[in-house]
Amino acid sequence: MAIVKIINENRTVADRQSVADYLQTRGVRYEYWTPEYPVESDSPPEAILEAYAKEIERLKALGGYVTADVIDVNSQTPGLDLMLAKFNREHWHDEDEVRFIIHGHGLFHLRPKENRVVSIQVEAGDLILLPKGLWHWFDLCADRQIRAIRLFQNPSGWMPYYTESGVDRNFQPTCFGPSYISPQV
Ligand SMILES: [Fe+2]
Repeated sequence: MAIVKIINENRTVADRQSVADYLQTRGVRYEYWTPEYPVESDSPPEAILEAYAKEIERLKALGGYVTADVIDVNSQTPGLDLMLAKFNREHWHDEDEVRFIIHGHGLFHLRPKENRVVSIQVEAGDLILLPKGLWHWFDLCADRQIRAIRLFQNPSGWMPYYTESGVDRNFQPTCFGPSYISPQV
């Protein structure tokens, strides 16, 4: 289940409805998904997409997403640290960033303009939708693995634009539970 921390208020939100309600005030959609039938987290991508097809189709219709895929990131991923270094600095996209977590953990930091920085730790079952243009950055947790469904409006246009604000450096990428291990860049 997702955990939200409103950092400068020293406040934590950890039940699903409260997480969804709070994130909605920041323009971020949160849902908790269950598959239509049981599916192993290490099943092939096609089986994963099939088991969540109903939710995926609903979201596609809602947000104009045209494709969905499954991404696997773990300590065996070639160039992992270089990949992570692209996303752990504050950036935005011209596309929504839509992730449904199948396995592993991740930590998003959001910095909505005029608002305080919020961190969201996500794990299996969590769907998060960051609207295009929202400033954010991402880290893995200590398990250094995440498997997720991604939805795209236009996959070719999905790239990070950096704010270069340096704000990300003021926040420890600390997950609850397993502690964060710095990338070996
Ligand atoms: Fe991003």
